[in-house]
Amino acid sequence: MTIHLPDSKATEAFGAAFASALQPGDVIALFGALGAGKTTFARGLLRGLGHDGDVASPTFPIVQAYAPPDTRIPLWHVDLYRIEDAAELEEIGLDEARGDAALVIEWPERLPFLWPDTLRLTLAVAPGGARGLTAQVPPAWGARWPPR
Ligand SMILES: Nc1ncnc2c1ncn2[C@@H]1O[C@H](COP(=O)(O)OP(=O)(O)OP(=O)(O)O)[C@@H](O)[C@H]1O
Ligand SMILES: [Mg+2]
Repeated sequence: MTIHLPDSKATEAFGAAFASALQPGDVIALFGALGAGKTTFARGLLRGLGHDGDVASPTFPIVQAYAPPDTRIPLWHVDLYRIEDAAELEEIGLDEARGDAALVIEWPERLPFLWPDTLRLTLAVAPGGARGLTAQVPPAWGARWPPR
């Protein structure tokens, strides 16, 4: 099933719809080409968690960490586009971060593995410039899918 996102507001709103059910330990992997709308989704999610300020693209540094009271729960917004090797990934410590934060990860294909309970979302540019979103929903997310 493809979810149609006619404009960037719709991408943001779809991200925001995940916020109320998001728990520490959750991982959302955002697949999609350059400019597909991954950061736009993350911005919506952060707004839904209560964040008021800008949402920078975390290409440098690779992680932007958000925490209460700014957001309802701790969230790491991660962009792995510029990751060069496995040692760099080790240093970031995503596994440890999952202990008390939710993770939303752009360019997850840079990881050598993904946790099996990861929610995998793929954004694609549709003819005319809108976006289509598809999802691979693991059992851990079943009760929370589709988001409202
Ligand atoms: N549903 C949509 N329809 C049309 N434009 C959209 C939609 N969603 C997002 N956009 C626009 O696409 C552009 C790129 O978005 P964004 O920066 O979120 O992409 P990205 O996937 O994070 O890119 P990168 O790979 O560089 O990190 C922005 O101008 C954004 O407003
Ligand atoms: Mg981005």
